[in-house]
Amino acid sequence: MKLFETHAHLDLPEFDADRERLINKCFDSGIEYIINIGFNKETSLNSLELAKKHLHIFATAGFHPHDATDFDAELIKRLAREKNVLAIGEIGLDYFRNLSPRNVQREVFRNQALLAVDYDKPIVVHNREAHQECYKILKEAEAKDVVFHCFSGDIIFAQQVLDEGWMISFTGNITYPNANLDDVIRMMPPEQFMIETDCPYLTPHPHRGKRNSPLYLHLVAEKIAEIRGITPLEVAETSFNNAHRFFRIPPDPVKPVSKKGGKSSKGKKSKKTTVKDKKKDK
Ligand code: NI
Repeated sequence: MKLFETHAHLDLPEFDADRERLINKCFDSGIEYIINIGFNKETSLNSLELAKKHLHIFATAGFHPHDATDFDAELIKRLAREKNVLAIGEIGLDYFRNLSPRNVQREVFRNQALLAVDYDKPIVVHNREAHQECYKILKEAEAKDVVFHCFSGDIIFAQQVLDEGWMISFTGNITYPNANLDDVIRMMPPEQFMIETDCPYLTPHPHRGKRNSPLYLHLVAEKIAEIRGITPLEVAETSFNNAHRFFRIPPDPVKPVSKKGGKSSKGKKSKKTTVKDKKKDK
């Protein structure tokens, strides 16, 4: 099964003992891309470092509501210009844990949403018990490419988000008995969802209690498949394509080819370009 892990925190100390081994294992077992998510200065920088080391790991940069008081706009602007940083996030509001004052959370979220729009980057949203305020800030910023990561609303809020053309994303928490997300999973249009682990957190059943990793992502696909009455393969493929489009995954760099082949194909290419360019000029 070909999978796209859209939300991991592999830079965290939980992975210090086996990070590279685990990443290789992921890429050997069907994971094709990983988005590693920043949530403050340190993790945004570390996500970029990880992305620079691995062709198919990309980073995001952002200040989570828990870290809102440390917000550094210049850092986000600098990271937004990096080619391996594909989105701004995770950013948003957390009115459940309230680790930062709510007015600071709102201000920092608004700032980053506006930066994301300025720099033409998709936004990864963290939202806990702040549905309407998150919605309002994103609307006011005129954000177009948005994913509500670890979606936690009801079908009414899901519909509101989907009507904007935004995405919703699911973690291992859909496998928990109290998840209450079956209706949302049934009603969402196939082109508007993604899957993620949010590892090392939110380990899916039956591994709950252990460290989470992208190796358990298939369990999220399987749960969605069960609820929608389709195959896990369909879920994996659809969410893969959605993620590829949403994060605007760049093509792999072209590998050097053999001398003979390289020359001839190069020649053809440059000829074509010239014709095209001429046409454009006129
Ligand atoms: Ni996260």
